Amino acid sequence: MNTMTQPMTLSSKDLLCLSQLTSQEIEQILTTAIDMKNGYGSFNTSLSDKTMVMLFEKPSLRTRMSFEVGFTKLGGSAIYLDHQGNLLGERESISDYALNLERWVDVIVSRTFKHDTLEQLAKAASIPIINALSDLYHPCQALADALTLKENFADLKQIKLAYIGDGNNVCHSLLLVAAKLGFDITVISPQDYSPNAQVVRLAEKIATTTGSIIALTSDIQAASGHHAIYTDTWVSMGQEQSQSQRHDHFAQYQVTEEVMANADADAIFMHCLPAHRGQEVVAEVIDSPKSVVFDQAENRMHAQNALMLHLLA
Ligand code: CP
Ligand code: NVA
Repeated sequence: MNTMTQPMTLSSKDLLCLSQLTSQEIEQILTTAIDMKNGYGSFNTSLSDKTMVMLFEKPSLRTRMSFEVGFTKLGGSAIYLDHQGNLLGERESISDYALNLERWVDVIVSRTFKHDTLEQLAKAASIPIINALSDLYHPCQALADALTLKENFADLKQIKLAYIGDGNNVCHSLLLVAAKLGFDITVISPQDYSPNAQVVRLAEKIATTTGSIIALTSDIQAASGHHAIYTDTWVSMGQEQSQSQRHDHFAQYQVTEEVMANADADAIFMHCLPAHRGQEVVAEVIDSPKSVVFDQAENRMHAQNALMLHLLA
């Protein structure tokens, strides 16, 4: 391990929302993630005495795999508890759940429907709780996305990212990471799907300290000139009952070759995945050389591993 990757003590026990990390802490996590991506050799016993449990109320490919494979790469052990059939809090109270688990494991990674479930876990547990996606935030995705942006642009403070789609979890964490790292973000959503006003206010407050410019609009033309074009599914997990209504409302918000052509000449295309070709993005864009979606997926692991090192080592 080189001197840049000595574990530091983070200001928060948990990561439920990126506002819990300082800009410097995020920068350090990204630096460590780059070191790890260059080779795990010196990190492969960093967490050799640690155990992680993963509690997931919703399906996952990337989040489950990247946490589980990643933790193993650092020498730790991972256990997956499937909560798709019974939500946390149904069999016993959320606080009792946390108070049991902390007797055996060192960290809880959890994907929940309600953000409040994570808040309750964090309040009860003395060990770190990491948000693996809730209705409100997806902080680990945004850390990986910041790493992917760093790989593509020399100076993040000079770039503008356009998020086109639903103003929910992924969008909220992108707003916060943009504000924390000082890059500009334009959120383009249909009427009634704009981001949560409280989250926008939080991001705007942080942005005053970093110079990030935050814009919200329903005009897809506003993506022109941006350096990164980002989209997410029109129908998030748990919203399946409103699928046909959402397809109508989002039809004009597809990332097409025209959207990419109007963006900066060197613009990249980003998506947290899973993707739906022909809905939020056309195949010609997501499968084009401009697309960095599988780098984002790989970077989940490095960004989360860096977070784990600083939280636990
Ligand atoms: N991006 C993401 O969180 O993917 P999964 O839902 O497959 O974990
Ligand atoms: N907004 C999506 C993100 C999936 C990673 C969802 O919540 O389903």
